Amino acid sequence: WRGGPLAGRRVLITAGPTREAIDPVRFLSNRSSGKMGYALAQAAREAGAEVVLVSGPVSLPSPAGVAVVAVESAAQMYEQVMARVADCDVFIGAAAVADYAPVTVAGQKLKKHRDRLQLELVRTPDILAAVATHRPRPFTVGFAAETERVREYARDKLARKGLDLIAANPVGPGQGFDRDDNTLWVFWPGGERDLGTASKKALARRLITLIGERYGQENRT
Ligand code: C5P
Repeated sequence: WRGGPLAGRRVLITAGPTREAIDPVRFLSNRSSGKMGYALAQAAREAGAEVVLVSGPVSLPSPAGVAVVAVESAAQMYEQVMARVADCDVFIGAAAVADYAPVTVAGQKLKKHRDRLQLELVRTPDILAAVATHRPRPFTVGFAAETERVREYARDKLARKGLDLIAANPVGPGQGFDRDDNTLWVFWPGGERDLGTASKKALARRLITLIGERYGQENRT
């Protein structure tokens, strides 16, 4: 691995969905497969990095040479990421973290006594924003899955969360989640690049190469 663009760098990646418990047998989640995050972990490893992957529940094999930390909820993912943020050079938030979780988790299985049931939800911690405001902080990379105005929302997210780089992918019917291919447009404070449409594995290699370039230019060696 010695000659790779991320040789000797420590890379922390989140991947997959999170599950937010409603009761002992039910949860709220989303359609993320984890494929993009796992492909990034493998590509970062192949680029010479030491990789830790904090992963929500997925049905994918662990990439060779990558340490996988399995979590379920956004709160657990937050805890495992923040415990490691001081020890990484690059952070990539590829997980589809649930934005809301039930305020309370019922101790017993909810019964269907009533015709209507209201669930009260509360915002989950924004892991990516917490990493970006941590000091010292790693080179921080986020994802933006958008159904419209992709470029505008991605640029806005880059600035608002104070990121070094953001990879935007158009999602919707037939695009994005739970597929093997993807489309990525990447933005950073001084520029942008279209990484095209390709397999998630190929896009992961392109994104890791770009991260290696940008990280080098920020003179963090
Ligand atoms: O704001 P939005 O959820 O669209 O931002 C997406 C990016 O933020 C992704 O990189 C995702 O992994 C990250 N994120 C996070 N924690 C959250 C919500 C999103 O790390 N609670």
